[in-house]
Amino acid sequence: MLILGIESSCDDTAAAVVEDGHRVLSSVVSSQDDIHSRFGGIVPELASRRHVESIIPVVDGALKTASVTIDDIDGIAVSRGPGLVGSILVGLSFAKAVSFVKAVPFTGVNHIESHPLAAFLHEEDSHEPPRFPFVSLVVSGGHTTLLLMESHTSYRILGQTLDDAAGEAFDKVAKLLGLGYPGGAAIDRLARTGDPASVQFTRPYLAKGNLDFSFSGIKTAVLTHVRGLDGALDGKTAGDVAASFQEAVVDVLVDKALWALEATGSTDLVVAGGVACNSRLRARLSEAAKKEAVRLFIPPPRFCSDNGAMVAALGYHQIKKGMTGDLDMNAMPTWEGF
Ligand code: KG4
Ligand code: ZN
Repeated sequence: MLILGIESSCDDTAAAVVEDGHRVLSSVVSSQDDIHSRFGGIVPELASRRHVESIIPVVDGALKTASVTIDDIDGIAVSRGPGLVGSILVGLSFAKAVSFVKAVPFTGVNHIESHPLAAFLHEEDSHEPPRFPFVSLVVSGGHTTLLLMESHTSYRILGQTLDDAAGEAFDKVAKLLGLGYPGGAAIDRLARTGDPASVQFTRPYLAKGNLDFSFSGIKTAVLTHVRGLDGALDGKTAGDVAASFQEAVVDVLVDKALWALEATGSTDLVVAGGVACNSRLRARLSEAAKKEAVRLFIPPPRFCSDNGAMVAALGYHQIKKGMTGDLDMNAMPTWEGF
């Protein structure tokens, strides 16, 4: 069964063709960083306009790369939230139109719930998927969420960010250090030049065993620290600040993921979302997984950040279970629980 997955909930226009919920035939992503970077953040109106321009070429690209035509597609999956309403509506309207014209089913998926499904995607023949129930840490620009995935299509929220998402904290600290937007990858690179023990930023654990997150305090602590340097922020000091900030965030993410495994008795951990591209987080998780006998699944970076393949993977299971949508389906910019 071939599913066309469409993702436009934030600032990337993405489409993918995925077979049976796991084999990726194509995945095309058109980034909008060029238009938002000069504003230091996403401008919703510009994002939706760019989605309108990109959606047809991106879907065309995904079909061509997969060597199929729209007539070969058996179903369409689209992110219907959470995210920016104008952006979501572009993908959702497009999916409905194609579904209506081609008389194929379509389904609307929860963007956050689709991130862990990236662990089932593969391009080669052999692939070891995670076993249900598993814990998933979704760390992105808008969300830091711990989920217990009970099946492909059902989950329980174990913990959530109470304020800033981890990616948002990375982006704000990057801005403070003059690294541009989005700055997560730039912090990752700069941190390799610094000493992670040079500044002891307080780790926001909330309480032992608490699975919620709070990253706004650490962002303010970095701001206060940089102001205290009184203009003496050279390359070396910036590297130390980046490495120390990153280490504090990574400590909390790794520890809370392990607490979630302990609390649920699960042995499998899936980590996804843009921040899961972070090299220090990946290294620390691998170390912890070896020590604690955890089966760790971190998809390759192209499937960690926003993409259409994860949407197609979740959509496949929803369509198989009859969870299809009607033409009056609306966007869900806010989604209960997230
Ligand atoms: O999942 P994603 O592509 O989009 C959202 O749904 O938000 O995540 C984007 C976030 C941004 O905040 C970006 O700075 C962060 O992921 N990010 C990183 C890295 N690469 C991307 N954060 C830390 N280290 C990285 N290497
Ligand atoms: Zn995302």
